[in-house]
Amino acid sequence: LDNGLMRTPPMGWLAWERFRCNTDCDNDPENCISERLFMDMADRLAEDGWKELGYQYVNIDDCWAAKERDSEGRLVADPIRFPSGIKALAEYVHAKGLKLGIYGDLGTYTCGGYPGTTLDQIELDAHTFASWGVDMLKLDGCYSNSSTKALGYPLMSKALNATGRPIAFSCSWPAYEGGLPPVVNYTLLGEICNLWRNYADIDDSWESVRGIVNWYSRHQDVLQPVAGPGKWNDPDMLIIGNFGLSYEQSKSQMALWAILAAPLFMSNDLRAITLKEASILQNKLLIRISQDPLGVQGQMLLKGKNNIEVWMRQLSSSTMALAFFSQRTDMPYHYTTSLGQLNITAPQLFSMQDVYSGWVLHQLEIDTEFTVTINPSGVVMLFVYPEMQIVQDWDK
Ligand code: DGJ
Repeated sequence: LDNGLMRTPPMGWLAWERFRCNTDCDNDPENCISERLFMDMADRLAEDGWKELGYQYVNIDDCWAAKERDSEGRLVADPIRFPSGIKALAEYVHAKGLKLGIYGDLGTYTCGGYPGTTLDQIELDAHTFASWGVDMLKLDGCYSNSSTKALGYPLMSKALNATGRPIAFSCSWPAYEGGLPPVVNYTLLGEICNLWRNYADIDDSWESVRGIVNWYSRHQDVLQPVAGPGKWNDPDMLIIGNFGLSYEQSKSQMALWAILAAPLFMSNDLRAITLKEASILQNKLLIRISQDPLGVQGQMLLKGKNNIEVWMRQLSSSTMALAFFSQRTDMPYHYTTSLGQLNITAPQLFSMQDVYSGWVLHQLEIDTEFTVTINPSGVVMLFVYPEMQIVQDWDK
């Protein structure tokens, strides 16, 4: 969507995967969906180094609203859990230099059973969100049929634009239609949405991450070309820092999301995250790769019989990112190759930096062989860049 927003994949935090529809503030005040949770996360983003790295959105998901609209038909936040209201929350978040995202559903109800947005309520709700100072809308698609969605998503895009406030638009539409053409029209999505969920919801498990990654590689010929500045495929939230992923698997999710030019919305508890987990999410070189200005999505180049996948993303200034991803379950695997063997065109002389260990290999040529050791369900990710030409023509 050409609204000037999200020219690189958006980064931030989104409540759903970790905090779900927990509305039990009596018994679980720290973890229930309430203004306190979002203020806590805004504090953490602003104070623990996240914001400076680009993590700027604080996003509400389902279960924030009161069960009924107000007397004028407007959506309102649950008065017990959001006593100050969304407008005040937006001000709080903005004062920290962050942005606030909200959630709606094109349909009679949200998936969690809260008021949805029917076709006749689209303009009103867009206006309400804008009047609160919201910066992003995720529009879910429970409780509506395909024809309502086909009308409603373009209408909401228009309505958001008409508010005059820059509001990024995340569309769940394709995920409800199987995620593939001809049912899903990615040309249209690129015109009306800044990002879109293509596939199933992520859960707190490696199985879930793997299922998502495999779906994106299987359909990459369709998905890779449709992404670009202002329009991104969204394989769903980063779950690093929760309970389901090992250290290796966490590194794999982050590496693959960067290769996929995916939105980086963490869904975790930033109040309780360990340094080890945070260091994956805060890896500067990885973030640089994710945020490359060319905005070209990467793809899987090959999957060997050895269950090692090679992924590559083309980056600006003749650089690229390479990821060797193991779907093995036995032991660390030694993989020897060269860029030439991978059919990758490279600068004449180049260097490679291991994104996680920091190790640099210098003076490589297209046929120089190198070996990476990839742990089970782990990844080795390399940033490839032209070797500095420090040799000068002194005798001229
Ligand atoms: C389905 C979406 O895909 C999830 O990301 C989340 O928003 C839930 N609905 C909320 O009910």
